[in-house]
Amino acid sequence: MSHSEKTDALIFFVNGRKVIEKNADPEINLLFYLRKKLRLTGTKYGCGGGSCGACTVMISRYDSSSKKIRHYSVTACLIPICSLYGAAVTTVEGIGSTKTRIHPVQERIAKGHGTQCGFCTPGMVMSIYTLLRNHPQPSTEQLIETLGGNLCRCTGYRPIVESGRSFSTESSCCQMKGTGKCCQEQEENESENKNDVCSKLYQEEGFLPLDPTQELIFPPELMRMAEEPRKKTLVFQGERVTWISPATLSDLLELKLQYPQAPLVMGNTFVGPNMKFKDVYHPVIISPVRILELNVVMIDANQGLTIGAGCSLAKVKEILTEMILRLPVEKTQTYRALLKHLRTLAGQQIRNMASLGGHIISRLPTSDLNPILGVGNCVLNVVSKEGTQQLPLNDHFLAGSPNEKLTPEQVLVSVFIPLSKKWEFVSAFRQAQSQQNALAIVNSGMRVRFNDGTNTIKDLNILYGGIGSATVSANKSCQQLIGRTWNEDILDEACRLILDEVTIPSSSSGGMVEYKRTLMISFFFKFYLEVVQELNIRNPGYPDVPNKFQSVLEDFPLTIPCGTQAYECIDSQKSPQDPVGRPVMHQSGIKHATGEAIFCDDIPAIDEELFLAVVTSTRPHAKIISIDASEALALPGVVDIITAQDVPAANGDEEERLYAQDEVICVGQIVCTVAADSYFHAKQAAKKVNIVYEDMEPVIVTIKDAVNHKSFIGSERKLEQGNIKEGFQAVDQIIEGEVHVGGQEHFYMETQTVLVIPKSEDKEMEIYVSSQDAASVQEKVASTLGIPKNRIICHMRRAGGGFGGKVTKPALLGAVAAVAANKTGRPIRFVLERGDDMLITGGRHPLLGKYKVGFMNNGKIEAADIEYYINGGCTPDESEMVIEYALLKLENAYKIPNLRVQGRICKTNLPSNTAFRGFGFPQGTFVTEYWITAVAAKCNLPPEKIRELNMYKTVDRTIHKQQFDPKNLIRCWNECMEKSSYYSRRKAVELFNQQNYWKKRGISIIPMKFSVGYPKTYYHQAAALVHIYTDGSVLITHGGTELGQGLNTKMIQVASHELKIPMSDVYLSEMNTGMVPNTIGTAASIGADVNGKALQTACQTLMKRLEPIISKNPNGTWKDWANEAFVQSISLSATGYFRGYKAHMDWVKGEGDVYPYFVFGAACSEVEIDCLTGAHKNIRTDIVMDASFSINPAIDIGQIEGAFTQGVGLYTLEELKYSPEGVLYTRSPDEYKIPSITDIPEELNVSLLTSTKNPIAIYSSKGLGESGMFLGSSVFFAILDAVTAARKERGLTETFSMSSPATPELIRMICVDKFTDLIPRDDSKSYKPWSIPVA
Ligand SMILES: Cc1cc2nc3c(=O)[nH]c(=O)nc-3n(C[C@H](O)[C@H](O)[C@H](O)COP(=O)(O)OP(=O)(O)OC[C@H]3O[C@@H](n4cnc5c(N)ncnc54)[C@H](O)[C@@H]3O)c2cc1C
Ligand code: FES
Ligand code: FES
Repeated sequence: MSHSEKTDALIFFVNGRKVIEKNADPEINLLFYLRKKLRLTGTKYGCGGGSCGACTVMISRYDSSSKKIRHYSVTACLIPICSLYGAAVTTVEGIGSTKTRIHPVQERIAKGHGTQCGFCTPGMVMSIYTLLRNHPQPSTEQLIETLGGNLCRCTGYRPIVESGRSFSTESSCCQMKGTGKCCQEQEENESENKNDVCSKLYQEEGFLPLDPTQELIFPPELMRMAEEPRKKTLVFQGERVTWISPATLSDLLELKLQYPQAPLVMGNTFVGPNMKFKDVYHPVIISPVRILELNVVMIDANQGLTIGAGCSLAKVKEILTEMILRLPVEKTQTYRALLKHLRTLAGQQIRNMASLGGHIISRLPTSDLNPILGVGNCVLNVVSKEGTQQLPLNDHFLAGSPNEKLTPEQVLVSVFIPLSKKWEFVSAFRQAQSQQNALAIVNSGMRVRFNDGTNTIKDLNILYGGIGSATVSANKSCQQLIGRTWNEDILDEACRLILDEVTIPSSSSGGMVEYKRTLMISFFFKFYLEVVQELNIRNPGYPDVPNKFQSVLEDFPLTIPCGTQAYECIDSQKSPQDPVGRPVMHQSGIKHATGEAIFCDDIPAIDEELFLAVVTSTRPHAKIISIDASEALALPGVVDIITAQDVPAANGDEEERLYAQDEVICVGQIVCTVAADSYFHAKQAAKKVNIVYEDMEPVIVTIKDAVNHKSFIGSERKLEQGNIKEGFQAVDQIIEGEVHVGGQEHFYMETQTVLVIPKSEDKEMEIYVSSQDAASVQEKVASTLGIPKNRIICHMRRAGGGFGGKVTKPALLGAVAAVAANKTGRPIRFVLERGDDMLITGGRHPLLGKYKVGFMNNGKIEAADIEYYINGGCTPDESEMVIEYALLKLENAYKIPNLRVQGRICKTNLPSNTAFRGFGFPQGTFVTEYWITAVAAKCNLPPEKIRELNMYKTVDRTIHKQQFDPKNLIRCWNECMEKSSYYSRRKAVELFNQQNYWKKRGISIIPMKFSVGYPKTYYHQAAALVHIYTDGSVLITHGGTELGQGLNTKMIQVASHELKIPMSDVYLSEMNTGMVPNTIGTAASIGADVNGKALQTACQTLMKRLEPIISKNPNGTWKDWANEAFVQSISLSATGYFRGYKAHMDWVKGEGDVYPYFVFGAACSEVEIDCLTGAHKNIRTDIVMDASFSINPAIDIGQIEGAFTQGVGLYTLEELKYSPEGVLYTRSPDEYKIPSITDIPEELNVSLLTSTKNPIAIYSSKGLGESGMFLGSSVFFAILDAVTAARKERGLTETFSMSSPATPELIRMICVDKFTDLIPRDDSKSYKPWSIPVA
């Protein structure tokens, strides 16, 4: 290389400490470096692809030209360490800790209950922290932008937002509602009247103030380095890749000549994921981040903006915002369009990292900016050793035409974005699965220019993204419209021209073909209306947009949740020390927020440990002919390959193997694993294992396939009451139909993780595992290795979420790892990558519900005959329980005198589905609410009337003949009606719908009767162990697992209450199978119930022993009594045991007292839909829940909000996509959307019923872990209501079916109109679709 001086020492700072890395490897990212090299494990791995925000850290850089320090958030998983030269990195550990002082952000998120499992919390903290470094008093809009790139699967976001909002000077109340009052004001007034209702879950008053002077200073050494005039070329040589970072443009150009194929890595948000997930290999990488010319910004007030290719998208956004403020609207049309998309493009972290140049050059087919830059006549300023060149950024460039692209030697220096002309209009459109941080399904940039002062088209450009493999143009259509007048006459023609020109093959990748076609022309219609409106503003002589169409011109605003929480105040006579009934912060809240909470993979490296990578089946059903691992074994760092042959005892069982044996039964089944000295090496080798398969028949993917093949697991389950035949004979009307409920991925933020440490003596093994059921891990490992359980101790401190996904699967994965540990004799660390986790571990069962319902004309339902089919996947797992629960709980709140339900589990060649919050209830009961709504439609009555009419009214028996009292069900319903002002809002919705054609609102109220627990007594058993030490400190443990649901916090509250000591004297470290044996998995909402009872017994035993000592010395301290007991040789240790609630089910008789008790609730939701795009906005939800006496209202309300949000995901957003061969496509948060911060209702009010008792459970409480999930269906039914209104207005009165989830695609395609009528339809028999529904 001929360029200037070189250096190979990578210098940067982390949390104020200097790091000098002599062997920086370009393939190592900052997340790995922090966690494994620097042992800073607060920064978490959630996806590895920049989409979840768990790894958020702050980077600060000094800009020598502006003399300013820039702080910005990034996702550490996409930052190559080599790019950090001269940067200061701040991680969650760097801003505060319990050992020094905690930062106000950490304090507020913890005390405001913004953390449950805590896995997302460090990322949330760092996003808010970075915002505050730049804006100490942020606006709501800034908060929305900041948190858009951070996912949380537990909380429902509301408390996280609140903690961020507490720094703002803006009102903490949500937007003013129609009443002119904010929801909080209303609630406060209400509580004044009812002084038994509390609305505060924490006290803000004592919060630490934000003091910017306390922050770490930017290292002066880095400033000096930045000022250094003679910068050196940096060269870092890794195991496979060389990183070169030149200091000058001429060095860069020379390097480009020398390594023309080397990518220029700026933000690494395109190159990085390609290298990581698509196996793209670059031996040389050039990093031009230090080239000044790439960062220039030039403003020419007459011509436009020239922005350096190296500017981040966040910077571009700032520049455009400034320009828009400075210049008249007519000149900034393109800038406004760009800005619109920049608000929702990815998350803040990605916008901070990604560069404009990288964005343009990577030419992603879903690029949000390229279609706008393309229609905006932008120009690329390109340079190479040969000289400079200006390339138009047009459709040819975007299509990748050979003559219109950069040559490998060229570098994009800057982009010229011209000002718009007076009679020119530019608009941008995009529709994604959700509003923020989701890649567009279709997007578009559209520009029209008129002959000055007229509405005659002079020039027209339309570009679409998301349609094919590149941005595509509707150029020919546009040409044909030039010279035409902008009026309704061109609309139809334009749509037809576009559809003719821009075609999408029926089986094209990504699917949604008809939806995409519809969006293309729906967008054009929106553009048409926008331009009509603009023309009218310029010249009122032109017609305006009709009033009824106006609202469609406004996009749904990006909003964040706010709302109220109400619960019964604690009796004022109660001792202030007694924590039971108080909204106590999560026991680990502060540690979550400081990153000190240790999750399984945060455990420091164990000497000699190996990492495991999986090789999974690529075939749905095949014989394994051979496994050739020779190539893999020859790779560096590889220690061993483990297959079924290495299992010492039982390789699972006939139905479910640990390692595939002889045959595979789904894509994603573990065939073998590779153990190596690093995960990177293990993964590289896993790709080289060569497996030869022989395909087998049949391949069954869908429920329909399974029914055709009679492929079932277990026998049919059936329940019946009354006389179905007679019931149907007596009714006025009968409806029949079917509805599908899609599956759901757990998406716990912490992927499945296990660390197995074999001991040198007596085959002992220590296992650290993220599991809801540690005992089952112990059991499976024991049976797999053929050793007794007493040699295996499983530790479970906390899991980063479980939701049912960590009940059975950790046992399989634990055993897989234990086989590797047994074979190699070394510790095995086994952390599933997000993609593997999603592929292998299954999720919620997709369900097909068929119904036949008979009813009277007044809506009284007399008979219902229901069939359920669930897609169980390839093994039984917990499917039997899921179908049983779906049947037992199907009736929900309704008394149907003649009711029959039958259910079957379909055995398919999909990964095995498993437990998921609600266990079949959210799917089965959804079907019930669906046919209730269908009955309402048939009777032409409002659905709530049908619900009320058929609801249980008095003490009665369920379909399984269990007696219950519906009093609280009716209370919840009535209170929800009242609190939501249902009737007045329904009227308002109707009025809105009369006044708006393309936007419709819907409202719905849903009741809920949910039964907690299991249908078997012994499943409820629980045990606890309590030690009192002579210093008075107390150590407790129990058989439940902390998954974020606050179980341990509640248990400490129980111990504190029973022992009458402060919570601070009680400690709970972990559960482990050595301390509490033979435990039952923590699930079915009863964790706190049963473990609380066991703990209570243990504490009471100890108190009984201490009683004589206490009464002898009543003024003594707890410590004195403990000491005295010791002196008197009284045991200070006790176990507690709870046998379990009485529960049984007799399936032959179809009856049983199956569940210990019921949780009641109701939810009312209101939504608005955009009929043209299928987008919807959750406006408001009111939930009333019967929690009886809440042990901890903050935790219980947190569970309700979190579960509700997961339900919103299930019913409206989350969509698993499978190929016809059963390959799961959706394996990352990019492809599978869980609710993010803007998907939550703008207003979310939760209140707990007061003055209720549940004598059966501890302290008269109720288990609330799962039930809230189903209430998410109220959003679905509100959407259905809105869709029905739209269809009615369009004259479509025939019944229609709408399955779950109600995605934008579904909503749009059901809102049939002239645009959906225009699109070409494909004959489903004539092509193979890209994906198929499996429900
Ligand atoms: C989680 C996530 C979410 C996303 N969401 C969205 C979204 O919603 N909408 C959307 O539009 N996009 C989205 N993206 C894509 C993102 O916008 C692009 O990845 C990004 O803009 C690329 O910029 P970069 O600087 O990171 O490119 P890099 O990865 O650094 O480089 C990309 C390519 O550009 C070339 N290149 C870079 N600079 C130059 C130059 N100066 N001259 C010549 N060649 C150059 C490189 O050689 C390389 O081939 C998302 C990406 C991620 C990771
Ligand atoms: S782990 Fe980095 S964004 Fe998900
Ligand atoms: S607390 Fe956010 S993912 Fe668990």
